[in-house]
Amino acid sequence: MNIDAILKRIDDNLDESLERLFALLKIPSISTDPAYDADCRAAAHWIKDDLAALGFLSEVRETDGKPIVLAFPAEATSDDKPKVLFYGHYDVQPVDPLDLWDEDPFAPRIVTREDGSKIIVARGACDDKGQLMTFIEAMRAILAVEGRLPVPVTVLIEGEEESGSPSLPAFFAKTMEELRCDAAFVCDTGMWDPETPAIAMSLRGLVGDEITVKCSNRDLHSGQFGGPARNPNHVLAAIIAALHDETGRVTVPGFYEGVAEVPAETLANWDSLGMTAEKFLGPIGLKTPAGEEGRTILEQVWARPTLEVNGMWGGYTGAGFKTVIPAEAHAKISFRLVGDQNPDKLREAFRAFVRERVPADCSVEFKAHGNGPALTIPDDWDLLEVGKTALDAEWGKATAMVGMGGSIPIVHDFKHKLGMDTLMIGFALEDDNVHSPNEKFNMSSFHKGIRSWARVLAAL
Ligand code: BES
Ligand code: MN
Ligand code: MN
Repeated sequence: MNIDAILKRIDDNLDESLERLFALLKIPSISTDPAYDADCRAAAHWIKDDLAALGFLSEVRETDGKPIVLAFPAEATSDDKPKVLFYGHYDVQPVDPLDLWDEDPFAPRIVTREDGSKIIVARGACDDKGQLMTFIEAMRAILAVEGRLPVPVTVLIEGEEESGSPSLPAFFAKTMEELRCDAAFVCDTGMWDPETPAIAMSLRGLVGDEITVKCSNRDLHSGQFGGPARNPNHVLAAIIAALHDETGRVTVPGFYEGVAEVPAETLANWDSLGMTAEKFLGPIGLKTPAGEEGRTILEQVWARPTLEVNGMWGGYTGAGFKTVIPAEAHAKISFRLVGDQNPDKLREAFRAFVRERVPADCSVEFKAHGNGPALTIPDDWDLLEVGKTALDAEWGKATAMVGMGGSIPIVHDFKHKLGMDTLMIGFALEDDNVHSPNEKFNMSSFHKGIRSWARVLAAL
């Protein structure tokens, strides 16, 4: 492979690459909201067509939910080459609160910052449209220069990642054999900092559960009934308060089963990265670390399980004031998992913990929102070295081998159902406002991200 010609082609065609990314960013493919079903479908077809234009045998496959894009290499290649499965997701998170966006989230634009650097602003600019397009654009450049890819690549782009991938298990079971490759590549994680590339060595798992506590048979006047009538907001608040102890540990019995202590050597490696409370919390307006006592910030995010309340409501939350004792209170709660924690067991332990604390006359209901175990990549996997060498060369800095606090559920299936490890290289930054208003992707992440993948592919 003529890597210099490929890199030059990427540089010369950056504007065209951006135009394609913008076309994809204009499609509001919000998977969790049924109002955007047609847009999700449009995004799937856009990607299918783009991959077909690159010569892939490209299809949109139906599922019970959002369609999935699947593209296969057009020509069969000899068996001795490793086959690669690239995974990404075309769906994005909802945009609310909309009034906090400076511009329309689906009108992508380039903004030049005070220091002269450029950023791409739109919902999905980073997660995951900008990231997945770095890989597709790298393939495009290689194909333009060389006429073929160095190894056969199958592309899988799903449309429900941001809503817990409800249709993926059934799709996976049906399609498994078609997805079987020697390794998976994912571009949906982050860099260490804006100059330092990273390879993700772990992902946390996730369990989501929604609780509804019900007390009286209707909303009540809080003067007329306050006192004798049980208030479900209080019941729920007490349960939530009981979920952590004063040292920040989760109190649900069995919660830490399957959680191993991080080896001292790994902790020392992480310490050498120089993360501090100031660096981590400063940019988000905080100073004092919360969470489990006696654990460093990186250990907490990369290697410890957590339980977070993502939403809680009940009674009157509108403008002004209303004296009411509501009939119901609600919370959405998620756990991040590490090591061998078992999602199903944890959900049951959590529900038992809640049920035990619901007083007389009240009831509780639960609704599951997705689950998946944690994942670790073996340190001695040979493709890590390939990835690291390519990234070191592109960024001129030693690649950081990092953990990731977030979750990408399918990566666990790649490992445990197909026996494939995953090379997770991503170019997201802490300040990209992923899942928040004014999501952005640095132009350097997009441009050097394309170049990085071209180097990885060329090295195979
Ligand atoms: N790209 C993220 C996952 C991620 C975030 C990896 C930060 C590494 C660092 C992904 O799109 C995501 O948001 N996943 C959800 C999964 C959930 C909805 C099942 C998450 O982590 O909350
Ligand atoms: Mn993502
Ligand atoms: Mn996401």
